[in-house]
Amino acid sequence: MTPTIGVFDSGFGGLTVLRALLTQIPQARYCFLGDTARLPYGSKSRRTIAKYAVESAQFLVHEQGAEFLVIACNTASALALDAIQEAVPVPVLGVIEPGAQAARAASISGDVLVIATDATVQSHAYAEACKARGLHGIERACPLLVPLVEEGWTGYLPGDSPEQAVTAQVIRIYLDQLLADAATQSLQPDTLVLGCTHYPLLRPLIEAAVPAGMRVIDSAEATAEQAAIKFGCHTKAAGATDPSHLGTRESDTPQIRCFATDSVEKFERLGSRFLGRPTGTVELVDLGG
Ligand code: DGL
Repeated sequence: MTPTIGVFDSGFGGLTVLRALLTQIPQARYCFLGDTARLPYGSKSRRTIAKYAVESAQFLVHEQGAEFLVIACNTASALALDAIQEAVPVPVLGVIEPGAQAARAASISGDVLVIATDATVQSHAYAEACKARGLHGIERACPLLVPLVEEGWTGYLPGDSPEQAVTAQVIRIYLDQLLADAATQSLQPDTLVLGCTHYPLLRPLIEAAVPAGMRVIDSAEATAEQAAIKFGCHTKAAGATDPSHLGTRESDTPQIRCFATDSVEKFERLGSRFLGRPTGTVELVDLGG
C-alpha cells in the first residue's frame, strides 16, 4: 500500500517542500501541481486565492487520487486552508503552522522576522501562529522576490552574475527595512522565517544579508516531518515500528508526477533546481480561468 500525496503550490516554489517530503516519506507516490498560469497568488484577494487553491486541491484529490494533501504555498495556507479542508475529503496540511513551530524551536529571544508575500503578510497568519507559541512575529511583504525566483534569478546562478547582484540588492533593501522596523520597536530578532516556498531558492543570498548569528527557517523540512506524523507515513528513519507503515526506499526512483497550468517547458527547466533532481515530463492541465 503506497500512499498518494498531492502537493500544491502556485508555482515551482512548492517543489522545495516536495524535496523535503521525498526525504521524509520516500515511499509515497507524489502528484505535484504548480498553478503557474495563475501565479502570483500573493498579490490577489482571499476570495480569488481560495477559489484557485480549492480548484487545485480538487484536481489533485478527485482527478489524481491524492489521499493526503500538502499545501506547499504559504499564501494558500494562510488564506485558504479552511476552504480547502471543506472542499476535499482528505487530510490537509499547510506550511504556516510547521514554520511557526520551527521558529519556536530556533528562537531564543522570542522575536522572529517573517518575510512573505503581500497576501500572507496582510492575513497576519504568521504573526498569529507566532503569538500562539509565545513569539513576537514581525512581518514584511517582499513582492519582488517571487518574480525574481520564477525568472531564475536566484543565488544558484554561477559566479557574480548581474542577475544575482540585482536579487541580492532587493533582498538587502527588504531586510534593512524589516530590521529597522524591529529596532524601532526595540525588538531583538534572532530568527528569520522564509514565509514563502519560493524563498528557499534565495537562501544563500538571504543568509549573506542577515546579521551574523541569525537563524534562517525554511518551513519545508518541518512541514515534511509533520506530514509524516499527520498522514501516518513514518519512515524507518523516523522510527516507525509498525510494519504496515512502509520502510524507506531511498535507492528507488521516486514516484513523482508533475502538473502545471502553464509553460511545461519552463517548469521542467527551472523546477529541477527547486526539486534537486529532474522533474521528469511535466503535464499541462487546464483548471479554467
Ligand atoms: N509560493 C507561494 C507562497 O509560498 C507564493 C507565490 C505566489 O505569490 O503565488 O506564498
